[in-house]
Amino acid sequence: MPSLIQNFHVPLIFSSPIIVCGFVSVFAFLIFTGTYLVTTCRFYVETAFGDRRYRGLEPPNLPYWIPWIGRGLEVATNPHKFYETAIAMSPGRGPIKVRVASLHMYMITGADNIQTLFRNSKDLTFEFMQIRVAQTVKGLPEQDATRLSIDNSGTLATPLSPVPEKERIWRQLHNIYAENLAHGRAVDCLTSMFVSEFSRMIDEEPRGKWKRTQVYKLLQDKMFRASTMVLAGPGILESNPGFAKKFWQYDAGFMKLLLGNPRFACRQAWDARDHCLEATKRWLANGWAKMDWQAASQQNPDWEPNFGHRLVRAREQCLQSYGVSLEGRASLQMGLIWAINGNAIPMAAYMLIEMIHEPSLLSRVRDELSSIAGLNNSSSLELDVAALCRLPLLGSVYKECLRLRASIPLTRRLHNDIEIDGYTLRAGNFILAPSWLSHQDEKVWSVPGHPPNEFWADRFLHKGKGSTDASPKLSVPSAGRESGNAIKAGDFFPFGGGSIICPGRFFAKQEILTAVALIVTSFDIEFVKNVHLGGRPSERGPGLENCESRGIISLDRDVMVRMRRRS
Ligand code: HEM
Repeated sequence: MPSLIQNFHVPLIFSSPIIVCGFVSVFAFLIFTGTYLVTTCRFYVETAFGDRRYRGLEPPNLPYWIPWIGRGLEVATNPHKFYETAIAMSPGRGPIKVRVASLHMYMITGADNIQTLFRNSKDLTFEFMQIRVAQTVKGLPEQDATRLSIDNSGTLATPLSPVPEKERIWRQLHNIYAENLAHGRAVDCLTSMFVSEFSRMIDEEPRGKWKRTQVYKLLQDKMFRASTMVLAGPGILESNPGFAKKFWQYDAGFMKLLLGNPRFACRQAWDARDHCLEATKRWLANGWAKMDWQAASQQNPDWEPNFGHRLVRAREQCLQSYGVSLEGRASLQMGLIWAINGNAIPMAAYMLIEMIHEPSLLSRVRDELSSIAGLNNSSSLELDVAALCRLPLLGSVYKECLRLRASIPLTRRLHNDIEIDGYTLRAGNFILAPSWLSHQDEKVWSVPGHPPNEFWADRFLHKGKGSTDASPKLSVPSAGRESGNAIKAGDFFPFGGGSIICPGRFFAKQEILTAVALIVTSFDIEFVKNVHLGGRPSERGPGLENCESRGIISLDRDVMVRMRRRS
């Protein structure tokens, strides 16, 4: 007797792949257009019947095509275009609610709204995102992520929830950053070591001989080695000669890892991450084995060879006593190595490349630097870093590169409801404040002949009273410019803001400016050609098309130069 299965016939229409594809397409079409129609109708209902503000209502919901995913694909693949499209749809460029996969985010822009966000830090947290990034990008093990998620009391002195003080890991880490990165003594220690390491590398170059090199590639090697040595000590570099190369492969795959791409889809990024993690783990294990903790606790040196700067040692002790495993600590300390290099090195490259593309700017900067002690004739160890950081033109180039090349997707989770621009933003959802929109805002930055999407070295220069073209008295204003557009804190926030502002910003500025100053005063530099990162000629230099939104935008092109050590 024929079995039931033998008697079961696939209906004829499903036996042809073409017909199956047709069915799937029609089904997908119906789902997508249905979703779009429903969400569009909702958007028009929300925006067509009067102002929703000051009525306890949320911002309108941005329509989308794909159920569950919402706008997730656009945010992931072309974030800048997405930010611009979304904000163009929102009434009066006010807050708009966006679905990004399982997250509901309120996207905000405008100086006043951003400043309200910063002022409301006490109702916001950012640990959820930190843990998510640490898991996807830095390989934080599940059990450590769970342990770190237990503390939901935030980073401020007043806890958001009743967690015992010694269990407040995020508060402790926050204090460790403040003490070891934001205090003058800590920054001075980092900078003077960086200057000495970086100068030593420059000194290895023979004088008077022209050499061809790629600018960004050069910094990815020398600046990376100097700052990693300063932060982490010599161990991690000495036992891994290829560490810098693997680190930049890992950095290039950052977004792919963040988006959860499986190993087969981005093998190089996964392998580079594994390599860096393993190297970090070995370095930490070695450090623990060799460290004389008793002596360290008595003398508390700013720097010692096992863990490098005090910041790493303090963080290591804190995480270890909280119960984070060696693997977990390796992923978080690798994050710190990324923090010190991942943004500062592209920034220094952008500054140098702008000067190389515009030789008159390079010579203006060199003129300005000629007044700084410790550059040029005397020893770089006596470099007057404070005076260097006050130079108006160099400072303006720095700020302009930060404005143009930073794309920070500031993300916070709402612990309590807050009101922004008259809308109620509900607890549990997220706020997304992309620096890109603020840094490109025509109303704030446009000056005749200098649109916001173009680099203009003088954009942040302020010609003070009594200034003439022959004798300009320049300063870098913290706000306000000749054009009359007052720049507010919410217009320009490359380092974030509120309670979670980058604690490394003081060192970042000193590190970037000293690296740039040492290079332009130690070498004659001539532009040869724009190149792809691999060295192939390119018709353009680093661009802003299709770039990622995760910090300082990664360079998609490099510049080939001739360099000669000055005598
Ligand atoms: C141009 C260079 C840099 C830029 C643009 C930058 C930007 C930022 C931003 C925007 C944040 C906050 C992220 C958020 O609010 O979501 C942040 C956090 C952080 N940055 Fe930087 N950063 C730079 C350089 C550095 C350097 C040199 C260090 C030194 C180690 C550093 C250490 C950190 C740390 C530890 C945090 C986390 C703070 C916390 O968890 O409370 N950064 N950075």
